[in-house]
Amino acid sequence: MSELGRRLVSHLEAHGPIGFADFQAQALYAPGLGFYASGGGAGRRRDFLTSPEVGPLFGAVVARALDGWWDDLGRPDPFPVVEAGAGPGTLARSILAAAPRCAAALALVLVEVGEAQWPTHPSGTTSRADLPEPGSLGPGPVVVVANELLDNLPVALVARTAEGWAEVQVGARDGRLVEVLAPFGGEQATWCDLRAPGAPVGARIPVLAEAVDWLRQALALAGPGGRVVAVDYARPTTGELAALDQAAWLRTYAAHGRSGDPLAEPGTCDITCDVPIDQLALVAPPDRVRTQAAFLREHGIDQLVAEGRARWEELGGIAGGLPAIAARSRSSEANALLDPDGLGGFTVLEWRP
Ligand SMILES: C[S@@+](CC[C@H](N)C(=O)[O-])C[C@H]1O[C@@H](n2cnc3c(N)ncnc32)[C@H](O)[C@@H]1O
Repeated sequence: MSELGRRLVSHLEAHGPIGFADFQAQALYAPGLGFYASGGGAGRRRDFLTSPEVGPLFGAVVARALDGWWDDLGRPDPFPVVEAGAGPGTLARSILAAAPRCAAALALVLVEVGEAQWPTHPSGTTSRADLPEPGSLGPGPVVVVANELLDNLPVALVARTAEGWAEVQVGARDGRLVEVLAPFGGEQATWCDLRAPGAPVGARIPVLAEAVDWLRQALALAGPGGRVVAVDYARPTTGELAALDQAAWLRTYAAHGRSGDPLAEPGTCDITCDVPIDQLALVAPPDRVRTQAAFLREHGIDQLVAEGRARWEELGGIAGGLPAIAARSRSSEANALLDPDGLGGFTVLEWRP
């Protein structure tokens, strides 16, 4: 078992079980041992590829979106934009490299809880561990963008048993981490019944405690006229998840592939959960919900690909060297970003407080 697993076992043997959300927080973010705190994460040489890591095209499209939103706001200067869950800063780097029209006004703040990732954040940006206080970036509206953050925020798990609902906790037995079911009733059980009506015995659902808090804070930060744009793998309802096996929506990843039981080797794999939109809507229903493919098309991905093709021709194809190859690679990047069975099928949730 992993070092973090061994430490958790001895802690849980001494103190009793913890909720799955606390376990997930440790597995991902425990200092020095959690998956994100010990060098795991998004990137070509790391464990999985997110849209910004596919190449610069995603950031170039987001740069165009930022220009549009800046225009809508009457071109404020400064134009505060917060990227939450910024990881190593790849999206921010691509946005800046695309030289958006708003560049001179753009005040880009990168929020990343893993401080080990700050050194690669691009110059001219500010790195911090948590969302800024509302109003601290100036009196005007703020744009908050988050790519694949919400799926990484710890979730509680609940299970429907023959006796009713129970919290899935993590305990230790015989030197291993095991699940422990802690039955509950009252308002919490009513909440589960409302979110997953008619869930059969054996069904499970996630409860998005942290993502809901994050959204509340992000909306307060965005302020009137601002925007919160979150890109993630999402599902319309919690009830939909209750009908599926837990492994279909609570996934583990390591070394560019699916990994196994989240309790087996904590700290060695990512743990992510599909985001049920109905739970976020309890804070505020999103103003727009569309696929990543639709979002990218709306903000001009096809035009950027066409420009790339034209540039490739203009530079004489392969004879044009790296600039020509970079221009042509937009086509393959677009294929990955628009793939309806892959990144293109992700959901873009947009709130306009
Ligand atoms: C799946 S990665 C995505 C990174 C990047 N956005 C991308 O698309 O490549 C999620 C990132 O969110 C960070 N994170 C998790 N919880 C956070 C929080 N509450 N505030 C800021 N960052 C957080 C993690 O450390 C990790 O770097």
